[in-house]
Amino acid sequence: MGGKVYIVGAGPGNFELLTLKAYKLLKEADVILYDRLVGEEIESFLKTLDKEIVYVGKERGEKGEKRQKEINMLMKKYFEEGKKVVRLKGGDPGVFGRMAEEIGFLVENNIPFEFIPGVSSVNGAPVSSGIPLTHPENSYGFLVVSGKDSGRIKELHQEGTLIVLMGGCTAKDVARNLIESGISDDKDVAVIEKGSMKDQRVTLTKLRELAENDFNFESPALIVVGDVAKFAKLYQNDK
Ligand SMILES: C[S@@+](CC[C@H](N)C(=O)[O-])C[C@H]1O[C@@H](n2cnc3c(N)ncnc32)[C@H](O)[C@@H]1O
Repeated sequence: MGGKVYIVGAGPGNFELLTLKAYKLLKEADVILYDRLVGEEIESFLKTLDKEIVYVGKERGEKGEKRQKEINMLMKKYFEEGKKVVRLKGGDPGVFGRMAEEIGFLVENNIPFEFIPGVSSVNGAPVSSGIPLTHPENSYGFLVVSGKDSGRIKELHQEGTLIVLMGGCTAKDVARNLIESGISDDKDVAVIEKGSMKDQRVTLTKLRELAENDFNFESPALIVVGDVAKFAKLYQNDK
């Protein structure tokens, strides 16, 4: 069987904000499963491609879990037919995009897969509107939360994901500061050097290990702190 599933970010809806990799995969795919958030411009483009395209977006009032099960079954069916399947999602698949559920399903069913990041609405929409997400004096970082769970914002520093940029060289100090700020020293941490590049390297550890050891990470690097970091263990993507 030569099938494979590509979970691809479509960007925030502007056709030209599709990545080159997404564009190439859309051209090469046998079947494309797409949802509403990909937007009209990209949907029109999909319709010009001479291939099977399947709309899998949620209908109004429909439960997400039920639709996700159907999407999983479709990915499996097409994979078993030996097809190259693109699952095209709005923005980036890692941002409120059911990425964890899909990894679980694909690993469980021995389906080879790859994730292709997209421009998220998190940066795509504000930057397209001239709004910087950070500012040297006025904004030290930014938060992204779900409107469905905004009552949980107080829990964010224990239950959320924290991404630290510009902390590769000072990772030990960063980890110590985070622990001092109240984040559990048992939190999972992934340090990603040269993310998305051919020589990307991911180091999985605990916050306490980061605080106690000198790792000498290569630049550029960022630190992911949170329970989601351990998903990197399930992902075997040779660049
Ligand atoms: C389920 S989340 C998926 C987010 C997506 N994976 C991403 O990275 O942008 C859907 C929400 O993203 C936001 N969103 C997506 N595309 C957007 C756009 N072009 N402009 C503004 N907000 C957008 C809206 O708040 C929408 O309700």
